[in-house]
Amino acid sequence: MRSNHCGDLQTKDIKSRVQLCGWVDRSRDHGGVIFIDLRDRSGTVQITIDPDQGEEMFSIAEGLRNETVLQVNGTVRSRPSDSINKKIKTGSIEVLASELKVLNTVSENLPFTVSIHDEEPIREEIRLRYRFLDLRRDRMNKNLQLRHTTIKTARDFLESKGFLEIETPILTRSTPEGARDYLVPSRVCEGEWFALPQSPQLFKQLLMVGGVERYYQIARCFRDEDLRSDRQPEFTQLDMEMSFMSQEEILELNEKLIASIWKKVKGIELKLPFQRLTWQEAMDRYGTDRPDTRYGMELKDVSELLKESGFKVFSGAIASGGSVKCINVSNGNHLISNVRIKPGGDIFTEAQKAGAGGLAFIRVREEGEIDTIGAIKDNLNVEQIDSLLKQTQAKAGDLILFGAGKTEIVNKTLDRVRQFLARELNLIPNDKQNINWNFLWVIDFPMFEFNSDEQRYEALHHPFCAPNKEDIGNKEELWTTHLPQARAEAYDLVLNGLEIGGGSLRIHNPELQKKVFKTIGLEPETSNKQFGFLLNALEMGAPPHGGLAFGLDRIVMLLSGEDSIRDTIAFPKSQQARCLMTEAPATVSKDQLEELHINSTLDEND
Ligand code: AMO
Repeated sequence: MRSNHCGDLQTKDIKSRVQLCGWVDRSRDHGGVIFIDLRDRSGTVQITIDPDQGEEMFSIAEGLRNETVLQVNGTVRSRPSDSINKKIKTGSIEVLASELKVLNTVSENLPFTVSIHDEEPIREEIRLRYRFLDLRRDRMNKNLQLRHTTIKTARDFLESKGFLEIETPILTRSTPEGARDYLVPSRVCEGEWFALPQSPQLFKQLLMVGGVERYYQIARCFRDEDLRSDRQPEFTQLDMEMSFMSQEEILELNEKLIASIWKKVKGIELKLPFQRLTWQEAMDRYGTDRPDTRYGMELKDVSELLKESGFKVFSGAIASGGSVKCINVSNGNHLISNVRIKPGGDIFTEAQKAGAGGLAFIRVREEGEIDTIGAIKDNLNVEQIDSLLKQTQAKAGDLILFGAGKTEIVNKTLDRVRQFLARELNLIPNDKQNINWNFLWVIDFPMFEFNSDEQRYEALHHPFCAPNKEDIGNKEELWTTHLPQARAEAYDLVLNGLEIGGGSLRIHNPELQKKVFKTIGLEPETSNKQFGFLLNALEMGAPPHGGLAFGLDRIVMLLSGEDSIRDTIAFPKSQQARCLMTEAPATVSKDQLEELHINSTLDEND
C-alpha cells in the first residue's frame, strides 16, 4: 500500500514517485493550493494539492478533517526556498499529489488535537480514556520507540553474554516481595487461588537449579500497592539471574548493560564503574537508601556534640536513644524566610509530613554569631556553637536546619526537606538535554528490619537474599544468633534519587534458608507449606547464584525525560489503578462468580 514512510523522505528522493499512507495531521488552504501535513509513525511530510492536478482530487482535499486516514500518490519535489521548514526532518521537500484516496474517515469529534504542532497540555484522564489517539501523538510515539530501543539493546547485550530468555508463569503462588497480591480464583480447584507474580523471583532461582546458568526475561509483575508516579500495579522488570558469579561480577556485568543502553539511546558514554555507597553510609549521609547524589546538603550527625546541650529537644532526643542531625543550606539566610520554616510554612510542612514534630534552625551571621528563635540560642554554649559550625562547615549567611528524635524519623525528615529544598532552590539543573546521570550502587543492605508494631523481623529485600559470610561465620550453630544483625549480599541501583533496580546473591544452602525463614517468624510447618519446592530444590544440587531486576518503566521514564512511568507504558492504569479506556476492573455476572465458587461480601447497595 505504500512505497515510503512520510518522515523518511529526503532531498535525495526528489523527482521520485511515491505512495504514502497516514493521517491528516493538519491542512491549510492557501488561496487555491491546499497543503496537508501527512503523518505516519516516522514523522510528517507536506503534501501539496494543486487544482491543476485534478478537480476531483482538489475537492476531496477541501473537505478533509484532521486524522482522516489517507493514501497519497505523488512526486517528491523541493520546496521553494521561502517555505523551507527547518524544524522538521522533511522540511525542505514536499510531495505534489496526483491522487488522493480516503482510507477511513473521522466521524466522531476528536477529544483533543493529535497534531505534532500542538503542544497544549491535555488532561491525563482524557488521554488515558482515548489512549489509542494519545499514542498517535508525537510524545507517546517517541516514548514507545525509545522503550523498544531500550528493550532491544538489553536483549542484544544479554544474548551476547550467553543469557537465555525464558518465560515464567503468570498464574502462580504468591512470592513475598512485600506488596499485596492480585488473586485469581481457580474454577477447577474449588476454593483455591492463584496469585499473579510480584516478580519471577522463585522461578528464576529454580531455573538456576535447573542448570540454565544465565536467564533473563522482560517480565510483567503485579503488585497491589499504593500508586505513585513511579509505581504501577502492573509493571515490567528487566529480570535476570545467573549462576557461578560473584557479587562483583554481577555488578560489573550490569554496569556494562546499563552503559550499552545509555550509549544506544542517548549517545552517552557512561563512566564506569558506578559510584558505590554502603547502605549504612547512605542512611548516615542522606537519610535514605536511594540518595540523589547530584547535589550536596548532606546530613551531619551532631548528636555527640549536642548531647549535653541545655536545649531539651536535642538532649532529650539523644538521651532516649535517638539522634540530632542537621543540613546546612548554603546562603539559606537570604533564600529562606522564617515564615517558611515555622509552623504553617511550606518547608515546615514537608518536615511534618515525614513525621517531625518541629524544625529547629539556626541562622549563621557574621563572625560565627548565630541567630534563632526560642530556646536553642540560649542553651548552646560558645564551644558547642563553634563545634557545630565547624562540623557543618557553615559560614556567614548559611541556614542550619535540625531534625531531632527517633533516628528513623530524623532521617526521613531531613531526606524529605533536602529533596524539597533542592527542587525549590534549583540545585538540580532543570535542563533535560544536559542531565547529570548519577548512578549509584547501594550495597550491604541489612538482611532484616525490625517491625516494632508486630514485634518481629522482616526481610528488607526478600527472604532469599544471602547473608554476608563475614557477618554470620561458618558455624551453623551461630547462624541463629548472628543472622538478625547481618548484612545481606544485596544491592540496589539508584539513579538521581530513584531506585531503578535491585537484587542480591541468593541463599543456596537449604539449612541457611530455613534459618532465615525462622528469623522472620515462619515456623517450619508454614515455610514448608509455602516454600517446600524451593527447599527441596536447594537440597538437590543448587548452584551458587544471584541476580537482579531493573524497573524497565522507570529506566524508560528517565531516558525519555518524563515525570511519570504512565507515559512510558502503552496502556497504563490510572492513579486509581483503573484502565480508563476499557473501564477495567468491572463487575462480572453472578453466574461467573458462582462458577468460580465466589460469594461476594459486598453489600448489593455499596
Ligand atoms: P524489587 O522489588 O526491588 O526486586 O523490584 C525491582 C525493580 O522494579 C521496579 N519496581 C516497580 N516499578 C514500577 N512499579 C512498581 N510498582 C514497582 N515495584 C518495583 C523498581 C525496582 O528496583 N525479585 C526482586 C529482584 C531480585 O532480587 O532479583 C525484585 O522484584 O525499579
